[in-house]
Amino acid sequence: MGVINDNISRRKFLSSSFMALGLGFGLGMFGLRFLQFLSPKTKTDRFEEILVGSISDISDSDATVMEIAGSKIVLLKTDTGLVAFSRKCTDLGCLVSWDKAKEQFICPCHQGIYDRNGKNIAGPPPRPLDRFQVVQKGENVYVKVKTA
Ligand code: FES
Repeated sequence: MGVINDNISRRKFLSSSFMALGLGFGLGMFGLRFLQFLSPKTKTDRFEEILVGSISDISDSDATVMEIAGSKIVLLKTDTGLVAFSRKCTDLGCLVSWDKAKEQFICPCHQGIYDRNGKNIAGPPPRPLDRFQVVQKGENVYVKVKTA
């Protein structure tokens, strides 16, 4: 009689223990997921240096238009060095063109005008043209673009 009661209570004890362990593990995982949900996601932008050519390939007097990693850019030698501008107008995103004679970027959509430093000087554009970082390593010129 005592042996049966011992087996039943041992069985009940083990069963309850496993259930408590499972419940504790489940609640712990739920709590962990909940904390992950509450914490802000920290997404870091990734940039890549893309080779755009040799410094000798880039015109001293004219702009060089190209597309790298899906971004339309224009390279221009200025008094402060080589600059890579986005061709996307800061008004509504039309593509600006370089007017060599006037030394200005012109937007065909609403006649927005930027000077050779990318500064908005006329029309609706609210701010200067965006820039990309230019890195020169020896003769090679790289432009840093966001890849992710
Ligand atoms: S989109 Fe360029 S001026 Fe409007």
